[in-house]
Amino acid sequence: MKHDRLLFAAAVAANLLPVFAQDPSAVTPAVTKVTPGPGDHYFEFETLQLVEESLNQLEEQNKALFNFGDPSVTPPPVEKRDDEDVSYCKVFPGDPLWPRPPMWDIFNRLLGGGLIPSLPMASACYEGEEYDAERCEFVEANFNNSYVTTEDPIEILAISFQGMTCMPTTDPTGSCTLGGYPAFAVDVSNVAQVQLAVNFARNSGIRLIVKNTGHDFSGKSAGAGSLSIWTHNLKDMEFIPEYSAEGTDWTGPAIKAGSGVQAYDLYEFCNQHGVVTIGGEGQTVGITGGYIQGGGHSPLSSIYGMGADHVLEMEVVTPDGHFVTASKSENEELFWALRGGGGSTYGVVTSMTLKARPDMKVTTTTFTFTSGGTVTKENFWQGVRYFFDYFIPFTDAGTYSYFFLMPAGPEDFLFLMQPFFAPQMSIEETETLLGPWFTQLADLGITVQANFTHHSTFHAAWSSSFPLEVIDKRYNADGSRLFPRANWEDKETLDATFNAWKTSIEKGIITINFNIAPTLARGNFAGGDADNSVNPAWRETVMHSIQSISWAPDLSPEEILEVRDSFTNGDMQRWRDVSPGAGSYLGEADRIEPNFQQAFYGSHYERLLALKKKVDPWDVFWAATAVGSEGWEVVTENGLPHENGRLCRVEKVV
Ligand SMILES: Cc1cc2nc3c(=O)[nH]c(=O)nc-3n(C[C@H](O)[C@H](O)[C@H](O)COP(=O)(O)OP(=O)(O)OC[C@H]3O[C@@H](n4cnc5c(N)ncnc54)[C@H](O)[C@@H]3O)c2cc1C
Ligand SMILES: *[C@@H]1O[C@H](CO)[C@@H](O)[C@H](O)[C@H]1NC(C)=O
Ligand SMILES: *[C@@H]1O[C@H](CO)[C@@H](O)[C@H](O)[C@H]1NC(C)=O
Repeated sequence: MKHDRLLFAAAVAANLLPVFAQDPSAVTPAVTKVTPGPGDHYFEFETLQLVEESLNQLEEQNKALFNFGDPSVTPPPVEKRDDEDVSYCKVFPGDPLWPRPPMWDIFNRLLGGGLIPSLPMASACYEGEEYDAERCEFVEANFNNSYVTTEDPIEILAISFQGMTCMPTTDPTGSCTLGGYPAFAVDVSNVAQVQLAVNFARNSGIRLIVKNTGHDFSGKSAGAGSLSIWTHNLKDMEFIPEYSAEGTDWTGPAIKAGSGVQAYDLYEFCNQHGVVTIGGEGQTVGITGGYIQGGGHSPLSSIYGMGADHVLEMEVVTPDGHFVTASKSENEELFWALRGGGGSTYGVVTSMTLKARPDMKVTTTTFTFTSGGTVTKENFWQGVRYFFDYFIPFTDAGTYSYFFLMPAGPEDFLFLMQPFFAPQMSIEETETLLGPWFTQLADLGITVQANFTHHSTFHAAWSSSFPLEVIDKRYNADGSRLFPRANWEDKETLDATFNAWKTSIEKGIITINFNIAPTLARGNFAGGDADNSVNPAWRETVMHSIQSISWAPDLSPEEILEVRDSFTNGDMQRWRDVSPGAGSYLGEADRIEPNFQQAFYGSHYERLLALKKKVDPWDVFWAATAVGSEGWEVVTENGLPHENGRLCRVEKVV
């Protein structure tokens, strides 16, 4: 049986590894410029690939670390778990199998540079070589600024999942360790580097992660002791006035975007070309990274469906290290899975080609109301309840409501609409739509001063309606639910749904909500393709709700576990109880969501898992709650769910 891990064990026993007879300084970049075939649509950086011959400069044992994988070779057997034996975990820094410095040197030379040893941003706050008071002050002030964390090779936004082992502080005597950050990141600027990193991680048995922007709600772009592929600088964009390819009937314009492209990049580019593409609301989210791979909901979803419904093709480095195109005519199953089945599972996407639609006018409306003063709590909640009666007609009209419901002080509550997004509607049409609800609110003594603004382009509407969101997830956890449209179909179930949702807010929980219906695009907006792996619960929903709890900074790990447990199995369970069989959005989720396979993937799970086993028998790609992730766990010292620990097999076989 051929198995790299076994070969390694033999090599170590023979004391061959990690000893490298080879002189690293003679190693040259393994990057070859390849001429694209007639059907290939590559960016320049995608023509720079890894070809096997360029590895011939390496001595045999070293070459074995960078070779392509062969998934048809019998995958490793399930081994007996022995907690003393690290070989049942991914290879970790300090292990005998961890590549020695000369090997990292060889790797970096093959890459042509770009290998970055991890250095937490906040290390500037701690005594030692990195100490820099001014830089520390900047880091402290910007730790919750997604523009700053995105620019960094290792930082993530939901910092609690890093384990918070190096936080900004004014006390330089504290401790700063790598925790859940990777050991190294590769700042990739061509496909060969992605291929080398995938091959190196797979062949050496070290953990691989992918970080694009670090927005993931569950810390899935971090991982202790890992090698990270940092895709942020793959920023290429190309406007294709008339797309054509085999297997698609789309003949309109398209935009090809590298996987480092963020919403603000893409929308600006679209604006210059008079088109729109389907992306999210958040300014700094990576559109062709985790967003589309996880489904992707949008202010345009009630007319166009999900972001994943508008992809024409993708370029991908698969777990065996090869670079392929996935589309309706090539690698169709992979294409299906990459449109909704979650990031960091089937490979590294380097770019996607997206359908582009004509730009549009939008009316946005913002308003807020609170309980208190002359507005009783009963009237406040009645006013909110009236809103729910319009969820189906509003989304039928193509609108998207982004609204917050939260406690305002010890007794009162706040409703914040920011914004009501009405694509292709005039102010008058939007007023007509909202009018009946506003009349009901007025009858309850709730006065609403709504700001109706008409925008001549999508870009103008988006940029003035969605302020940069401050992310500071140190002492909190989130969960989400896709409440089904069926719950709106009779008054009794709707009341029960409303009450279950409201109970969270009355308990002091903040909710972020979307009245959105990403069903199949219809009418004038046809052209979406929902034959993909997006969670089927998305097609049934008219409300996506996120609830977010927080706890005191001084809680012990045991106390945090208790709080989390009562959230996941209490507050979230109340929402599940009124929506049995529905789901939750994997991109904005609870890391410890029970039965995540059903919740995040629904009836697609078995098909997604079958493909995962086929293309990645090595489990080189792993992320918490990703397809196939149940075979492994991050073993943390304090038992909390985060990335500061070794990734080990769960299965114990007698
Ligand atoms: C402020 C904010 C606003 C948001 N707004 C929206 C919204 O409007 N609509 C919506 O649907 N979602 C939204 N999200 C959720 C967002 O879509 C997800 O967090 C998404 O996973 C982010 O992808 P990323 O590539 O930017 O982030 P990352 O955290 O870098 O990556 C997320 C996951 O995808 C993997 N990944 C990233 N790039 C690649 C790649 N090229 N190939 C393979 N795997 C990859 C990572 O390994 C990780 O598992 C928002 C999140 C935040 C924090
Ligand atoms: C961001 O973090 C800084 C530093 O901790 C803090 O002062 C600031 O209030 C935070 N911003 C918001 C809006 O929470
Ligand atoms: C109304 O909203 C627009 C943005 O959509 C903003 O530019 C304008 O300042 C707002 N007007 C008022 C009075 O708040």
